[in-house]
Formats: sequence, structure tokens, C-alpha cells
Amino acid sequence: MNVFHTADPMRAWSEAQRAAGKTIGFTPTMGALHAGHESLMRAAAAQNDVSVLSIYVNPTQFAPHEDFNQYPRTLDADSALAARVGVNAIYAPADAAMYPPGYATYVDVERITQRLCGGSRPHFFRGVATVVAKLFNAVRPHRAYFGQKDAQQAAVIRRMTRDLDLGIEIVEMPIVREPDGLAMSSRNKYLSPGERQRALCLSRGLALARDLLNAGERDPQTIIDTVRNAMNGVDIDYIELVDAEAIVPLDRVRGTVLLAVAARVGETRLIDNIKFTAPDDEE
Ligand code: PAF
Repeated sequence: MNVFHTADPMRAWSEAQRAAGKTIGFTPTMGALHAGHESLMRAAAAQNDVSVLSIYVNPTQFAPHEDFNQYPRTLDADSALAARVGVNAIYAPADAAMYPPGYATYVDVERITQRLCGGSRPHFFRGVATVVAKLFNAVRPHRAYFGQKDAQQAAVIRRMTRDLDLGIEIVEMPIVREPDGLAMSSRNKYLSPGERQRALCLSRGLALARDLLNAGERDPQTIIDTVRNAMNGVDIDYIELVDAEAIVPLDRVRGTVLLAVAARVGETRLIDNIKFTAPDDEE
């Protein structure tokens, strides 16, 4: 397994792969890998000639009061999993390599970053877009893999990739859930057994909403109210139904919509979502 800690040797390795005619699949992560990440890495390995994993807990996407210091760092276990699923190279840069003194350049994706997680964490998408642009420049992938659990993040990366002509295919993979429905997240590690139980109301609320949507309900407020009623016992940050690409609210469910929730369970902030596509003949 090749492990790189700075951009130049990472890029040189990727350029050599490209020169040999190989396609590169890339999974950007902050480590603390779980089955959700595993599905991304497996897809990257299966759909490309070589696959790269990055592990970097990015300080610019955390506000000072958030869990940057506490975020789980499990490099040995992550490297072992990466080797098992066919990753060829790990890019694990240090802060000094990513944001050296004098660093001054950020990527701001407008509009679609205003609501949902962008509303409650105003710093977040600027940090994500900036670090992903830097990672893309170091890894030079043909395809990059993101999870639907962070559906707004995937939409932001798609927008950035199109707007900046990066020429990378963004692949969004389905949410991986625990058997009881809880969406896999590195932050699930923070939950006590009681909190873990309470956290199930996010996926249960979304499952009720999916039933309503499948049964033909098209009023966003009715759907949101159903999820809100199911999410008792947690501190709701937002429940929003938006157009899945533009991330703007709708007066009626049409096209592909994203129903996204965020809530604090104890000290832990969790997110989850479903997507739903209304049949074409409803347009
Ligand atoms: O989803 C994540 O783990 C992070 O936001 C990402 C995309 C690796 C950027 O730091």
C-alpha cells in the first residue's frame, strides 16, 4: 500500500497511473471508517483500475465550538480496512501540508449552501469545498465517491466540479444503515446506549415520510409534520424538504426531492435523509 503525506508525491503517483492508461477512483474521507465508507471504497475499486482513499480531518469545516479535537482518529484500523477492500494508495496529509502559514484561498459555492447544514453550520461548506478541491488536485481522480448520507455535500461537490470544469465524475452511493435503520456515521461512536436508541427516531420518521410519499402525499408541510411528530426525544435542528439539486424548498413535491433532517442527540449532531422521485406523469 502506498501512503502519501504531501500533494507532490501523491500527484506524481496519480500521473504515473494516468500515463499508463489507468482510471483512478477516489474516496475522500475524514477516517474513522465504517461500512458506509467501505461501500464507497468498494465501488471505487470495482469501477476503476486503481483506487485512492484520503484520510484527513479537515479543520476548516469545523467551527471553534465543534468536535474537531474529539473527532475519532483510527488510522491503523482504517489502513487495514482500506487494504482489505483493494485501495491502492492512501493520501493522509498533515495540517502543515494542507494549510501552511500564509494560506489564503477558499472555494465558496453559492446558493445551494444556504439551507440545511449550510444554515446551521455557516462555515461548513466553504471548508468542505476548499478541501475537496485541494484533494482533487492532489489525487487527480477520474471518479470520486460520496455518500448520500451527506446529500447536500454531494450536491455542492457536483456543483463545484461543474462550475470549475474539473472533469471528474461524482458518484453518489446509497446510505448504508445499521440493521435497526440508524444511518452509519463516524459520529455514532459518541452515542451512549440510551442516546443510540433515541437516535432511531430520525430513520423512523423518514421511513414514515417515505410511506406517505409512496402513497401519493405531495404536500411538503404534511410530510415535514409527520417526521417532526416522530422525532420526539431529540433536539431537532432542521427538517426540510427541498429540490435535491437546487436545495430550495418546494410548495409541492415534484421531480426529485430531498427530505433531510438534523438533530442533536445529547451532545451529538446527527443527520439523515431520503430522496424521492415523483413519477413523470405528475409533472
Ligand atoms: O464527508 C466527509 O467525510 C468530509 O466532509 C470530506 C468530504 C472528506 C471533506 O473533508
